[in-house]
Amino acid sequence: MSKVLVIGSGIAGLIAAVEASREHEVTLITKSILAESNTHYAQGGIAAVMSSDDSVREHVADTLSAGAGLSWPTAVEILCQDGPARIKDLIDFGVAFDRENGELARGLEAAHSHPRILHAGGDATGVGISDALVAKARATVNDIREHTLVVDLVLENGRISGATLLDSTGQETIEADYVILASGGAGNLYRHTTNPSVTTGDGVALGLRAGAILADLEFYQFHPTALAVPGSFLISEAVRGEGAVLINNAGERFMQKVHPAAELAPRDVVARASQAEMLRQGGQPVLLDATALGSDFLNKRFPTISAVCRSYGLDWARNPIPVTPAAHYWMGGIATDIWGRSSVPGLFAVGEVACTGAHGANRLASNSLLESVVFSHRAISVLGDAWPESPQIERWKETGPLAELTIGAANHQVTPSSQVVDRVELQTLMWDSVGLARTGSDLLAAVNKLQTWVPAPEEHRAFTDWEDANLLLLAEAVTSAALAREESRGAHYRLDFEEIIPSMARPITVRRRA
Ligand code: SIN
Repeated sequence: MSKVLVIGSGIAGLIAAVEASREHEVTLITKSILAESNTHYAQGGIAAVMSSDDSVREHVADTLSAGAGLSWPTAVEILCQDGPARIKDLIDFGVAFDRENGELARGLEAAHSHPRILHAGGDATGVGISDALVAKARATVNDIREHTLVVDLVLENGRISGATLLDSTGQETIEADYVILASGGAGNLYRHTTNPSVTTGDGVALGLRAGAILADLEFYQFHPTALAVPGSFLISEAVRGEGAVLINNAGERFMQKVHPAAELAPRDVVARASQAEMLRQGGQPVLLDATALGSDFLNKRFPTISAVCRSYGLDWARNPIPVTPAAHYWMGGIATDIWGRSSVPGLFAVGEVACTGAHGANRLASNSLLESVVFSHRAISVLGDAWPESPQIERWKETGPLAELTIGAANHQVTPSSQVVDRVELQTLMWDSVGLARTGSDLLAAVNKLQTWVPAPEEHRAFTDWEDANLLLLAEAVTSAALAREESRGAHYRLDFEEIIPSMARPITVRRRA
């Protein structure tokens, strides 16, 4: 029996904690309450091949195509192949996916060749998954610590030996044989995000400070349709999958001119086209027109979105609603092998915090919940096994030579001109300079600006100061990686490299200079 510390309570963390509890002593840590995670807010659903008119081969092909030549094919095969078994596990855990005539109901989202998106409660898939897994975790995991932040990982002789935690009573270091990072993405790097406020990239920052190899950090996915209101509430891609269309202020559909799949083109294409249209109309949001779907259908299929629209005084059955792109999902993260193992012995990463290589340069819609459940399950199955000397080596053999990038922690010396980082300023800089369309000169200026900011002094840090320190570290890592990738690929679009080069597959990994 090993001591396992699971950090994060979205789908990846809950699955890891529940499954590891069968044989190991588990402590589950979360910064807020168990139910507060990106998973909880997922709408569209979870993609998997669950019907005979679809095939794993086609799911693999769609995923590789979205990944724009940077996916790790082995990880993609595993994702799609293991998917159906893991969906059955979720059903056994009590997740009630929607059904039609007794069969699992299947929705369509962008760049999928078949309807294969399972959902629950219409557009409340995340709530359905999170509620079932939280109940299971409460029943099976002995030690659950809510409102607890992990300040740093502890290593002994280069191997994980525990973590330092902070809660309302102060700091404590606890021992662990393994740490499983499952703390999600970093949407709060950006001024507009569909993510909840807890997503501040803490796990990736912990991994970076512990010396883990990170990869693909420059690839941040922007969702094209967030409601253009404070908080950027997500309007699921499933709405376009059901037939809603994007129009400009003149009432014209603009996606048909941009891509043969129109509104169901890959997410980066739709997001950039929407942003371009917004620029043409003086910054005004574009409109999502779902009126043809009718009020009865919209209320039944999308009850959460319908209620949120009503709360803003919008009647989307009668009028198009204003939408805008927002930061949504990070393809990059802690580089892992196909068992969730990082380059630091004893440290696993699963879910959005990880970079398994399954998403490449752009994630296919609704593949992220699937990746979490597939790779969490695999990670638990190798607890106790010998740690390979270099877990990433198989991936690099397939994806090509490795370019390493070192970010300049040393540049963050406190000088008289240093300024303690302000979250809104950081988010604004990232949105303006490291967003949907980037240029080398903006990225360079952003790196220089970030290096003038420092985290708050450690001894007086509140929770949010620790988060800000993590955001600052990651902002520099993302910006440096974006500067180093001199091409446009998938979600990373450089105005100074407009031609997309589809064949190069060279992951950039990031290390932090001590
Ligand atoms: C959505 O419902 O549009 C989000 C699905 C996803 O990001 O995978």
